[in-house]
Amino acid sequence: MKKKFKYILAGSLLLLFVDLTITACTKDKVKPAPIDSTCTDTISFTNDILPIMQNNCTSCHNASNTSGGYDLSNYSGVTQNTGKVYGSILQDGSASSMPQGSNKIADSLIQKVNCWINQGAKNN
Ligand code: HEC
Repeated sequence: MKKKFKYILAGSLLLLFVDLTITACTKDKVKPAPIDSTCTDTISFTNDILPIMQNNCTSCHNASNTSGGYDLSNYSGVTQNTGKVYGSILQDGSASSMPQGSNKIADSLIQKVNCWINQGAKNN
């Protein structure tokens, strides 16, 4: 009887631990992205947006491998559908979530793409 009680106690503690771990991970994931349309800096395609594409996207989206029909290695490719490009990195369900098979890119980078589009998606 005493032994059984020990097992129950150990089991409960284990469940509590697992539960706390899961809660901690879930909390990390639902942290809201600080994406807003307040854009104080002017975002440059060449200096800000193209490097984001080169670091995260052009391995699959380039001139010889246009996954999903997107060559993201140049201005015309990125601007062929800025709404889809933004939706894909925001992962809001309006497009396939990108980068495929990797973590979401940093919020600060998503914010830059958002600002660049709001500023007219210029070839600057
Ligand atoms: C590991 C390869 C890979 C990487 C890296 C990658 N993509 Fe994709 N992407 C794909 C494939 C494959 C498709 C076509 C299938 C699909 O839509 O899921 C695609 C489709 C897309 C589409 C079309 C989605 C739609 O719903 O029509 C967009 C936009 C896109 N990618 C943007 C990006 C952006 C922006 C990045 C970088 C942040 C990126 N991708 C990184 C492989 C990749």
